[in-house]
Amino acid sequence: MQNEKLDHESVTQAMQPKDTPELRALYKSFEEESIIPLWTQLGDLMPIHPKSKAVPHVWKWSTLLRLARKSGELVPVGRGGERRALGLANPGLGGNAYISPTMWAGIQYLGPRETAPEHRHSQNAFRFVVEGEGVWTVVNGDPVRMSRGDLLLTPGWCFHGHHNDTDQPMAWIDGLDIPFSQQMDVGFFEFGSDRVTDYATPNFSRGERLWCHPGLRPLSGLQNTVASPIGAYRWEFTDRALTEQLLLEDEGQPATVAPGHAAIRYVNPTTGGDVMPTLRCEFHRLRAGTETATRNEVGSTVFQVFEGAGAVVMNGETTKLEKGDMFVVPSWVPWSLQAETQFDLFRFSDAPIMEALSFMRTKIEGQK
Ligand SMILES: [Fe+2]
Repeated sequence: MQNEKLDHESVTQAMQPKDTPELRALYKSFEEESIIPLWTQLGDLMPIHPKSKAVPHVWKWSTLLRLARKSGELVPVGRGGERRALGLANPGLGGNAYISPTMWAGIQYLGPRETAPEHRHSQNAFRFVVEGEGVWTVVNGDPVRMSRGDLLLTPGWCFHGHHNDTDQPMAWIDGLDIPFSQQMDVGFFEFGSDRVTDYATPNFSRGERLWCHPGLRPLSGLQNTVASPIGAYRWEFTDRALTEQLLLEDEGQPATVAPGHAAIRYVNPTTGGDVMPTLRCEFHRLRAGTETATRNEVGSTVFQVFEGAGAVVMNGETTKLEKGDMFVVPSWVPWSLQAETQFDLFRFSDAPIMEALSFMRTKIEGQK
């Protein structure tokens, strides 16, 4: 029978062998032979519940933007560095540009008329635009307009580059599965064209023209794909979906995930599942005054405030948030949201990995 009150530390302490010269000699032999005994390590290797080295953390958009602009003045973008991107380094993860043990997140900045050269990699990537316009990302030769509120996908091994067609700089956020790929040693990388392969600036990409008609699947695309064939999920549709959920709630219809909380998940239209194999993307809208239930979830998640004001509570600590602010919730850290005004947040997580491998667990306050 398991006893939840027992913790590894006290049990491990209690069962440690007596400290003798022989034991020390044994431990020294372990060290020389690259061996570590389980009995000194159990709490770290198999904790009672996930205890991430990553910590909850908030990055202010005003700071990110200021530093990205400064980087724009000082640092060129081009072959080699590839991208002028600033990775958000979780303070608990030892100086790596990892926002969590599985995910990379950062702000990318492209100056007027600049081009970020094409390349491709195993890692899956997306971009989300909290403000601005004027950049096209070219994904496998398909130019995709980037505008406020849009989610843009660059699934693994698709060539991609960006170009700014205006005299204004533009910044957006990137999310990737870089730490996961690095720890699993699965990454490949290939350089492409030094310029983007198509400087056209169409309003809608070819992928959208083929796939973005509600409930309609082209018969030329009946084969399912591991990543979504849609290059851009437009704000117009996201906003409308959330607006309708709240209107339906007003009418007494079931539509929201909780009172005052509208939410959508971006999906791969060929499967109805997540947009990419390793990353889940969602958008949440809270009515003013709404507070979400406190949740613990396996896996890590990142939010960016799109519009409005409110706060996040992580491990019992409340932090106020405004437009553009980003925060990370590491695995099993209790969190909730509070909306001061109508509060719009973009969210991404590693949930597809956790679900695919059957590690996902969720605990919601007040529910069994
Ligand atoms: Fe890339």
